[in-house]
Amino acid sequence: MNPPVVTVTRRLPEPVEAELREHFDARLNARDTPLGPDALREALESSDALLCTVTDRLDATVLSAPPVRARILANYGVGFNHIDLAAARALGLVVTNTPGVLTEATAELGITLMLMVSRRTGEGERELRTGRWTGWRPTHLVGRGLSGKTLGIVGMGRIGRAVAGMAARGLGMRVIYVTRSPGPEDDALGSRAASLDELLSQSDVVSLHAPATPETRHLIDAAALGRMKRDAILINTARGDLVDESALARALTEGRIAGAGLDVYEQEPRVHPQLIGLENVVLLPHLGSATESARIAMGRRALENLRAFLAGGEPADVVAQP
Ligand code: DGY
Repeated sequence: MNPPVVTVTRRLPEPVEAELREHFDARLNARDTPLGPDALREALESSDALLCTVTDRLDATVLSAPPVRARILANYGVGFNHIDLAAARALGLVVTNTPGVLTEATAELGITLMLMVSRRTGEGERELRTGRWTGWRPTHLVGRGLSGKTLGIVGMGRIGRAVAGMAARGLGMRVIYVTRSPGPEDDALGSRAASLDELLSQSDVVSLHAPATPETRHLIDAAALGRMKRDAILINTARGDLVDESALARALTEGRIAGAGLDVYEQEPRVHPQLIGLENVVLLPHLGSATESARIAMGRRALENLRAFLAGGEPADVVAQP
């Protein structure tokens, strides 16, 4: 029997591509360019499965009218807001993701951003690299420490909890959080639940870890930013949709909050032009899960989901099914 045809929409780490070739008729994307709507549709019509990523817009147009040959979208990543789940279900597709294997990597990047913003490291690096550093002085680029400060976590899923643990244990921060589904371990390390309003008004650092859904779109808008302390910073390693970028750029420009650290944007790879010009923002190019071990583990998890499903079994990480 011929092996199933799997279209892989982006380059993946070499060991993962090798395993994909071993198990499937893997159509790899050697050029690594994002697939547009026509190419995605063509892949759905000509493959048994798609191994897709956050850069594939699998919306209602691409996932419109049958027939398609594909029966599964195995997403390489935990967030799946780029896939219209209702349209996928209607088209008879199972959708899976890769939870649990990028938790620490993403949490570490959240902590990186908190430290970079509060200690003004982006400003310092830009100054040094452009030859403007004139030497040590007591008043130079003075930032704020995080020890003893309050961290507000919006969304205590796996990544939110990992950030809370690292911040409390490693940096000595107090943690408050907002969550839809509290877990028994959430109040470990002295953390406690709060309302969103309370969290916004009490936190020195607000860190976002909620999924992008219609309910969380622009959760951080002008009003929410207005509730934050003037010396607080906002960190977003979740999804750009959670933040109204224009309102954030205004709040930062007018000094209504002290700074922001962003890894995700409303219209990636486009970044709001006003944010690019601001010194009090650290901007990273969606690097949350970008460690070697996480990226390989994500690939293996997606591959296991494909193998289970295409062999007639139940994949471990189903987020939608017909
Ligand atoms: C994720 O896993 O959701 C990362 O943001 C990459 O898609």
